[in-house]
Amino acid sequence: MIQVKRLTKHFKEIEALKDVSFNVPRGEVLGLLGENGAGKTTTLRILATMLKPTGGTAILNGNDILKNQQAVRKEIGILFGSETGLYDRLTARENITYYAGLNDMGKDKIKERIDYLVDILDMGEYIDRRTGKFSKGMKQKVAIARSIVHNPPIMLFDEPTAGLDITAVRTIHGFIGECREEGKTVVFSSHSMAEVEKLCERIAIIHKGVIVETGLIESLKTKYNKNLEDLFVELVGGSNEH
Ligand SMILES: Nc1ncnc2c1ncn2[C@@H]1O[C@H](COP(=O)(O)OP(=O)(O)O)[C@@H](O)[C@H]1O
Ligand SMILES: [Mg+2]
Repeated sequence: MIQVKRLTKHFKEIEALKDVSFNVPRGEVLGLLGENGAGKTTTLRILATMLKPTGGTAILNGNDILKNQQAVRKEIGILFGSETGLYDRLTARENITYYAGLNDMGKDKIKERIDYLVDILDMGEYIDRRTGKFSKGMKQKVAIARSIVHNPPIMLFDEPTAGLDITAVRTIHGFIGECREEGKTVVFSSHSMAEVEKLCERIAIIHKGVIVETGLIESLKTKYNKNLEDLFVELVGGSNEH
């Protein structure tokens, strides 16, 4: 269960988030839908305890992001599309092992879990090669493995498919689907309606730092008597330029 409570974030004079609130019930996938600059990454970075809010807070499985940062970090897996944050000079396995170590996993447990991840993500050919020269799709798989090596109950994905080719997009979509089947609580940001409709039942639409609508996709379609794209356009009113 994720409860986001009245988050605000100022970057000097820019108000990136204004009173952002939404809930994600345990075991559900919420799509945070918004155009460029809407505040998606800022929201997710705050939930991941990478950034402090100016006001408000969030509670993730009972842990407050302001008061129990360590506990929050143990419960979450993070996949941010823009930067995988891998160390180029380390092999894929070393990257994953390093991260698992930060999460207090023992050697045997790490090895067992990596064997499993190599298998499900089909990384056998390159798991012991340095990641520096990997394609974007290969790096993304290593980043996925690293994000779930400690098997967290909550996953945060920030535009995880941005800039990927279709095969890599399918891997990511499959992976999010598996998280959902395993009963993980997921927040996933995107500017693609098609992607959001495919992967989530619940959405929050963010526009210029404001949550303009939230609810089950099917309920919103009934409420507005429109398809997702048309109701999105109605709510965000065309341009999102500042
Ligand atoms: N570190 C930062 N410094 C100043 N402004 C920022 C910073 N990060 C984000 N912003 C601004 O906050 C707003 C929301 O950005 P962001 O959360 O990245 O949106 P999105 O991920 O939806 O594209 C934008 O106006 C952006 O320019
Ligand atoms: Mg972003």
